[in-house]
Amino acid sequence: MTRGDIAAIVLIEARIFSDPWPAVAFEEELDSDYRGVIVAEIDGLITGYAGCIVAAGECQLTNIGVAPEFRGKSIAKSLLNRILEIARKADCDYIFLDVRPSNTAAINLYNRFGFIELYRRPGYYRIPPEDAIVMVKTLRDQD
Ligand SMILES: CC(C)(COP(=O)(O)OP(=O)(O)OC[C@H]1O[C@@H](n2cnc3c(N)ncnc32)[C@H](O)[C@@H]1OP(=O)(O)O)[C@@H](O)C(=O)NCCC(=O)NCCS
Repeated sequence: MTRGDIAAIVLIEARIFSDPWPAVAFEEELDSDYRGVIVAEIDGLITGYAGCIVAAGECQLTNIGVAPEFRGKSIAKSLLNRILEIARKADCDYIFLDVRPSNTAAINLYNRFGFIELYRRPGYYRIPPEDAIVMVKTLRDQD
């Protein structure tokens, strides 16, 4: 992600999340040494993005989203594969993420990649209120 990508990302973010990140949150990701966002583009148009934090031998997927009109084209799979590559290169042992139990599409995506449910954080999400499922995938001795 470059600074110039942020406006397009924020437009997608506002369409697809009930509690979207503002532009400033993405700007902070640019300024961080251990956090980052990658984008998917088709003919120069941003179609999706994914973010992660890499620290202390672990990776956290912070965000993944695909514009509704580009879904079902394996864009999320490509983004997640790239995040896994980044995590492995940084020598991470695990990758974690949080997901709403009602988010079947995302849970299917994560299950497909071998993530498993670790535990639930009651009342973690606010708008609308919902628990979070914490999922993890081991990055060592498999695949
Ligand atoms: C979840 C999301 C990122 C998937 O993006 P996508 O580019 O359409 O996904 P892909 O085409 O790469 O599909 C990957 C896998 O996800 C699952 N999946 C994707 N869309 C699905 C749907 N509507 N219903 C069920 N499973 C779905 C499937 O397992 C699929 O693999 P398959 O087609 O081989 O069965 C997209 O729906 C999205 O942006 N949702 C809103 C934001 C969001 O919820 N992000 C996750 C926050 S934790």
